[in-house]
Amino acid sequence: MKKLHILATISLAAVLLAGCTETTAPSDSTGNNPNNGVVSQSSSQSGSDSSQAEPENQNITVSNGDVLEISDNISCSAENEIRIEKGGTLDLSGEIDLSGDLYVEGKLHIAQNAKIGGTGVIHVVNSFDDIECEGTVTAKIDAPEPVEIDGVTYVGGILLVNKEYGLPREFGTDIADIRPELRSAIEQMRADTGFGMTLRPSSGYRSYATQEWWFNYYCDTDGYDNAITYSALPGHSEHQTGYAADITKTELDYADTEEGKWLAANCYKYGCIIRYPADKVDITGYIYEPWHIRYLGKSTAKLVHDSGLCLEEFLEVD
Ligand code: DAL
Ligand code: ZN
Repeated sequence: MKKLHILATISLAAVLLAGCTETTAPSDSTGNNPNNGVVSQSSSQSGSDSSQAEPENQNITVSNGDVLEISDNISCSAENEIRIEKGGTLDLSGEIDLSGDLYVEGKLHIAQNAKIGGTGVIHVVNSFDDIECEGTVTAKIDAPEPVEIDGVTYVGGILLVNKEYGLPREFGTDIADIRPELRSAIEQMRADTGFGMTLRPSSGYRSYATQEWWFNYYCDTDGYDNAITYSALPGHSEHQTGYAADITKTELDYADTEEGKWLAANCYKYGCIIRYPADKVDITGYIYEPWHIRYLGKSTAKLVHDSGLCLEEFLEVD
């Protein structure tokens, strides 16, 4: 099917004055754009009378099959919304100052120097995979509600395991290893840091039974009240997902080593986050683990990293 491209060069002056612009793409009966797929701007504010600066309805809707490219800086007031419908794509290389709502049901690409800031909210309707972020997002991101599939909880496509959300006993036994994405991320980190850093997983995948053994061991040797602050109950360890790994040295002073500092500062670029940060102990329920990384994919890891939130806060499940 032919793709409809809406190439919108939204005038900064016009949009700053008027808020967002409603773009509409004329379609023929097949749903295709008869204008050979190119529609520049067809909104009430794009008329020739520049003194008419307060058009009424100024929403942006990116419909199925449309690609809207925004390369200028635009400002949306609280009454405006941007809606990327399923099958639509918003390709941002400028900046959006968002005061209203941006609904992401299609694809949102935020290019390297692009930015979405402001007091508005980006609503991820289905999946964080719908956002590809290389730029900067300082606007709040609203996650979808948790969904349970076969005893496993996902929030916006992200597998969530913590003290509240667990895994079935058999989960992961078919893989029984860290996921290839995480393995590649660690290998790439090691390659990029060069000689002198270890950066190897000292613990990767752990089955339910293995976690059970370790948890009981810590209870026996250190008592339940201590064990529960650093060891997950069986079925509640991220290690069972295959998306988590402990890197090099599971001791607190790892945070002060050159490697630990590098990992904290850079792992998001490779798709990972430090899952149990020092300042989020009350939320995660675990002590600071500067060695424990969780793979989320580059875009989501960047969003979480830039938010300054831990995963529970980011996914709004705390
Ligand atoms: N140390 C982490 C919390 C685990 O046992 O999975
Ligand atoms: Zn760990």
